[in-house]
Amino acid sequence: MTAKIISGNEVAAEIRKELTARVAELKNKGIVPGLGVVLVGEDPASVSYVTSKAKGCQEIGMFEETVRLPADVPEEDVLKTIDRMNNDPKISGILVQLPLPKNISVEKVIGFISPEKDVDGFHPVNLGKLLRGEPCPLPCTPHGVKQLLVRSGNDPAGKHVVICGRSNIVGKPLSAILMQKEAGANAVVTVVHTGASDIKHYTLQADILVAAMGVPEFITADMVREGTVVIDVGVNRIPDATKKKGFRLAGDVEYGPVAEKASFITPVPGGVGPMTVTMLLYNTVEAAIRLNEA
Ligand SMILES: NC(=O)c1ccc[n+]([C@@H]2O[C@H](COP(=O)([O-])OP(=O)(O)OC[C@H]3O[C@@H](n4cnc5c(N)ncnc54)[C@H](OP(=O)(O)O)[C@@H]3O)[C@@H](O)[C@H]2O)c1
Repeated sequence: MTAKIISGNEVAAEIRKELTARVAELKNKGIVPGLGVVLVGEDPASVSYVTSKAKGCQEIGMFEETVRLPADVPEEDVLKTIDRMNNDPKISGILVQLPLPKNISVEKVIGFISPEKDVDGFHPVNLGKLLRGEPCPLPCTPHGVKQLLVRSGNDPAGKHVVICGRSNIVGKPLSAILMQKEAGANAVVTVVHTGASDIKHYTLQADILVAAMGVPEFITADMVREGTVVIDVGVNRIPDATKKKGFRLAGDVEYGPVAEKASFITPVPGGVGPMTVTMLLYNTVEAAIRLNEA
């Protein structure tokens, strides 16, 4: 079997088209969704993420404001910026780009964002709602994984989903999303991590296998059953002197051999990556609607 490719670029473009239409409709009603981004320092990867988020907003017709603060900014000034955005009617969603410098508490900063404007879905109130199955913004990367599954015709309902990795931003929220008793979810979910003695024992039982470990090409073909749907969240930089940038990107899945056994697979790059920013835009549009109704 050779896997069909689930293109994150194509699914993201489809969702952005839907969002562009929704933003135009909202503007006709006098509602302009707006994203406020806070960037602390000049980490090149963070700068690049923030730039693509701003570009994404402009492309779908949303308002966007990025506040850039120096790496040595006091925590209090970051909180002041968030406070201002919490109270700014032009801002419907706030995103603080992570990681933050060590002197700034991520928990404090995330907890300071108004839950109604927490478009990353990381606020403890929203994570609690997610677990309880109440409406809330879903964290962007796991939400993107759900959309990739549903829109490629791989509804997780009744399927055994094995997630490798239990981080707060991917594995844990994805397990909470896919186990809910609702459309596009209702899966049986297993989460594996470094505490598992034999990961292959679990991955071989997966109908849908999600790799989110940050270990390049960890999932090899012998760990995957024929016909499994494989979603690769991993983005790893592998030093490569033949590349202009000095590295190549690799996922957590050994793509070529696994694609020979899987029924569907996401590539890296071009799989889960493009979905993350798209779901951030989606959450911001939804937040604008909720704030307007409040
Ligand atoms: N495409 C996107 O938009 C996007 C977004 C976020 C992350 N990512 C990528 O996804 C990957 C994971 O990111 P993350 O932030 O979730 O990583 P993380 O915080 O480092 O968590 C990694 C998880 O994988 C588990 N793990 C690591 N090595 C393992 C091993 N050898 N055996 C079993 N479990 C292992 C860890 O287990 P323990 O808990 O036991 O330590 C942990 O739960 C990274 O490559 C990251 O770049 C991509």
